[in-house]
Amino acid sequence: MSNLNNYTLITGASQGIGLEFSKLFAKDKHNLIMVARDEKKLNELKVNFQKEYGIKVYILPIDLSVDNSCEKVFKFVDEKNITVDNLINNVGIGCFGFFHEGQDGFEERLININIITLTKFTKHFIREMTERKSGGILNVASTAAFVGGPKMAMYYSSKAYVLSLTESLHDEVKDLGVRVSCLCPGPVKTGFQEKSGIKKSEKAKKYLMDADKVAKQGYIGFLKGKAIIIPGYKNKLLVFGNKFMPRALSRKIILMNNK
Ligand SMILES: NC(=O)c1ccc[n+]([C@@H]2O[C@H](COP(=O)([O-])OP(=O)(O)OC[C@H]3O[C@@H](n4cnc5c(N)ncnc54)[C@H](OP(=O)(O)O)[C@@H]3O)[C@@H](O)[C@H]2O)c1
Repeated sequence: MSNLNNYTLITGASQGIGLEFSKLFAKDKHNLIMVARDEKKLNELKVNFQKEYGIKVYILPIDLSVDNSCEKVFKFVDEKNITVDNLINNVGIGCFGFFHEGQDGFEERLININIITLTKFTKHFIREMTERKSGGILNVASTAAFVGGPKMAMYYSSKAYVLSLTESLHDEVKDLGVRVSCLCPGPVKTGFQEKSGIKKSEKAKKYLMDADKVAKQGYIGFLKGKAIIIPGYKNKLLVFGNKFMPRALSRKIILMNNK
């Protein structure tokens, strides 16, 4: 439970999994710093959360793909003298299609959001957390982190980075009183699929998990201090099964599904 100036900072907090995380922390009386681009949406959420849960909410409408956006967040937190108890590095974007046919410049945007922002946020706040000997960081990767992903190459590889970084940090700081966890969801029912250009068949849509269930399992695993959290038994089975499958075969299956 947080005291007056302790906050949970959530990136990509206005929709999808990030919004569900915001609700869970708010219900447990954590004050929030919500980061996303849509100022109007963030404002509506701020008003609702403050009224419904009696917490304090700061909103930061910032595009995290552009230079110096992380520094703006750090400056804000310093100026307000806020202690960030929990950091939820949730924001992430994807792009469907062959790498060689992709739009120029998108790689920079994806790497900025999925890798650089997450790394800078983690570095900045983990220092304070280890000094205080308290706090936690939850990084959102994907089941994509465990395999190579033809036709979503940049996304899969960015999530492999998130998983590897997070696992390593989990072990580096666990004896210093800081929790670091990696959430690895399979496909989730949010706007992400459409924004990334992923076309799911009606049958495949049935296997999408609800964002609230994903966030809930992430939240519970994070509080328990787990290193890797894979929501849903089908996703757990998939990741487990992959360990016994030749990597060439899993890539083939992914490419077939990505036709
Ligand atoms: N959905 C899936 O199938 C799935 C599966 C596995 C892992 N994940 C991972 O889960 C995380 C959350 O995904 P989601 O499905 O909840 O996505 P989503 O529904 O598309 O929501 C993305 C959130 O990030 C914000 N955002 C996007 N671009 C931004 C930018 N440039 N700067 C600041 N904020 C930005 C969005 O708000 P604004 O548009 O207002 O900025 C929104 O709040 C991501 O890391 C994703 O890779 C998703």
